[in-house]
Amino acid sequence: SIYSDSEQASVAVAQQIADLIRQRHGEGRPCVLGLATGSSPTRVYEELVRMHREEGLSFRNVITFNLDEYYPMQPDSLQSYVRFMHEYLFDHVDIPAENIHIPNGTIRQEEVAEYCRRYEADIEEAGGIDLQLLGIGRTGHIGFNEPGSGASSRTRLITLDHITRTDAASDFYGEENVPRRALTMGVGTILEARQIVLMAWGEGKAAVIKRMVEGEPTDSVPATYLQRHPAVQVVLDEAAAAEL
Ligand code: GLP
Repeated sequence: SIYSDSEQASVAVAQQIADLIRQRHGEGRPCVLGLATGSSPTRVYEELVRMHREEGLSFRNVITFNLDEYYPMQPDSLQSYVRFMHEYLFDHVDIPAENIHIPNGTIRQEEVAEYCRRYEADIEEAGGIDLQLLGIGRTGHIGFNEPGSGASSRTRLITLDHITRTDAASDFYGEENVPRRALTMGVGTILEARQIVLMAWGEGKAAVIKRMVEGEPTDSVPATYLQRHPAVQVVLDEAAAAEL
């Protein structure tokens, strides 16, 4: 779907998520959400907080799994995705703390493989992801699945692309401070979600959106693998859709 601006688009995505939460609640079941960070989903989270405050939307039956986290990263750092999620969403709604899962950027390197297996097992035990929110990086990454990530990749430690570190430089007050690695769900993990909503705003995303939608599926643009998923919505503003 193409909206005239990201505001309208974000409100529509938030409404869709709220409907799913209420539907699952009505069925007496948890609603499992895969969540993303970055600038693209912030208005969605703000709108969900508004719906919690003004419309009584409850998150008591919501279980969340975030896509990724820098590595290493302390949870209280300014740039941590733990901090981001608490600031934009979790601190303002009634989600039980034990329902929140965000990759832990403080685990020791020797523990990474086991930790990543556990993260996947936790998703499975929750019943799988009902709806996965995604942004997209200029490299064609989803989560932090940089070029080279295969369609069946799983949750793991990855080396960040130079372009991604350049794009993150301002958040870290200089590219030299951007971590070189990150923990991320794999492309294969993401593709197992029942429903996927990818959001992109602004002219800076137009070129990668064209490659994602019109290019052949390839490891060099991991977002192209979304073409293989039966229930993906690509939500764009006019600027991000300009090259389609
Ligand atoms: C980071 C995140 C991605 C996100 C991307 C785009 O790299 N790890 O999950 O999709 O940034 O960010 P933005 O939404 O700020 O453009």
